[in-house]
Amino acid sequence: MCGIVGYVGDNEATQFLLDGLAKLEYRGYDSAGIAVGENGTIRVEKSVGRLSALRDKIAGNEPHGHIGIGHTRWATHGRPSDLNAHPHTDCSGDFAVVHNGIIENYLSLKEELIEKGHQFRSETDTEVVAHLLEEVYEGDFEAAVREVLRRIEGSYSLVFMSRRDPDTLICTKQDNPLVIGLGDGENFIASDIPAIINRTRRTYILNDGELAVVKKDSVWITNRSGEPVTKKVFEVKWNAEAAEKGGYEHFMLKEIYEQPKAVRATISPRMAKDGRSVAMDDLGWSKEFLSSIHKIDIVACGTAYHAGLVAKYYIEKLVRIPVECDIASEYRYRDPIVDEHTMIIVFSQSGETSDTLAALKEAKRRGAKSLAITNVVGSSIARESDQVIYTWAGPEIAVASTKAYTTQLILAFMLSLYMAQILETQTEARIAELCSALQRLPGQVGETIEDVEPIKTFAKKYGFNEDVFYIGRSLDYDVSLEGALKLKEVSYIHAEAYAAGELKHGTLALIVEGVPVIAIATQKSVYEKTLSNIKEVKARDAVVIGIAAEGDNELEKYVDHVIKVPVTDELLIPVLAVVPLQLIAYYAAITRGCDVDKPRNLAKSVTVE
Ligand code: M6R
Repeated sequence: MCGIVGYVGDNEATQFLLDGLAKLEYRGYDSAGIAVGENGTIRVEKSVGRLSALRDKIAGNEPHGHIGIGHTRWATHGRPSDLNAHPHTDCSGDFAVVHNGIIENYLSLKEELIEKGHQFRSETDTEVVAHLLEEVYEGDFEAAVREVLRRIEGSYSLVFMSRRDPDTLICTKQDNPLVIGLGDGENFIASDIPAIINRTRRTYILNDGELAVVKKDSVWITNRSGEPVTKKVFEVKWNAEAAEKGGYEHFMLKEIYEQPKAVRATISPRMAKDGRSVAMDDLGWSKEFLSSIHKIDIVACGTAYHAGLVAKYYIEKLVRIPVECDIASEYRYRDPIVDEHTMIIVFSQSGETSDTLAALKEAKRRGAKSLAITNVVGSSIARESDQVIYTWAGPEIAVASTKAYTTQLILAFMLSLYMAQILETQTEARIAELCSALQRLPGQVGETIEDVEPIKTFAKKYGFNEDVFYIGRSLDYDVSLEGALKLKEVSYIHAEAYAAGELKHGTLALIVEGVPVIAIATQKSVYEKTLSNIKEVKARDAVVIGIAAEGDNELEKYVDHVIKVPVTDELLIPVLAVVPLQLIAYYAAITRGCDVDKPRNLAKSVTVE
């Protein structure tokens, strides 16, 4: 999981490479490097640490040239170090390569190349690619790259440069993303659009197996067999500022505040004109089709998995089709029972998560129908799935997912309503009631972020505790899981979410005087039960922060602090209840001085297994 860029054109390559990498640091940031064609050689500069370390290293002595490649790394093979940073070169220094992904057969290739006399400098899998290119090169750059691709196995997006073809970059991809930006007298290559959006909005999105020969005034794309591919230009519609911080201290905070807008943008285009039903007719589902689906498997990772748990609840409650919700890295290896009567629904903000993509492919291979819910148009998961619905959350840059989660909940809910409409499992009146609640939601999300002062106060007071527990039942438990993950990943506080009813089966032993417990109690059907669990932890002198709906005057009698969220149908409360939990995580991280947008050891998009 890394970010890669390439430039060829009339301007200085270094400028674009560094600016582009800055926009891709969300993909990894433990080391960075660039290779630039300078005076007939390839000059490579790299440094362990953030991109700023590389900038400092080359300040005043930047490489000058009109062609180059760059990389920001998230280590897989070999620890973060100057030597393991990309670009990697061959023995002669004639070739340089940047790579995102994993070369699975690198060890056998490395042994073979060492026997032939190649000298390796790094512990990475990627370096074999540079040496292999040197080994097979017979005067034709493209032919040599094709030969390399025939020999390597694994997932990759790759950009190659050659000292002997000083005006040409070659790039290709398999299971990892790559876009080409089309400029005027210059062309760009990047893992993701934010890297090029300040230079051009006209792009080609490469598909697996495609290879592009990129020069300053031409892009020639062929498929695996070398046949030309005619591609449509994909015009990027995003606003450049949308990918920037827009005045907020961190992307995470900005994205929390963008939720009312993101939720509205996700709901509006799918609401029928009279506001009484959901219009997702693009899916083209019929009663006959849905009746042929006997089981739904929801598969995802991390926050997207937590959204999947809520989706399971919605579908089972509103549509009465059995749903299993699985973590993608488990699903793909557990020999799931899947046939043509199964539908797999994958949730993924990035649309690039390797385990989710593999799980999707596996379910399809076994005959399942597939649907992806993702935020990134044209992403690998969007393209692999039979059908796709997009969360219109806009670019999510912070590693901690916030607006992607709330918009995933919205789509899960709307999809369930749409299925209920087709299968007639809910009355028209109930659907209209839920649609009306849905349309009030963007404003209500806005209300949850109006007054954050109490949350800042808790964060200051409890931000230095070592452990925090989250409890809830039913949908409140699903939200607890997401609250705990947020706190862990940005503040490094040990946080655990428990189904409140499970406490007494072991975890209660950890509840001692002063331990903060965040109790979510918004679901009427289990409210009294949750209250009993709150009393259990209070009896052990825990400090309890309750999350309740407005109008609940009971909870405050039993807890130390209460945060109230607006009243809505209890099915939709997770969209509101999660917001204070996101803010608690954010302000706890600030209290502890953590790097909120770039938590240690993590990256935004996990494109390796
Ligand atoms: O891009 P995806 O939604 O597939 O990513 C899945 C997880 O890696 C992601 O949700 C991760 O858990 C977030 N960092 C959580 O905030």
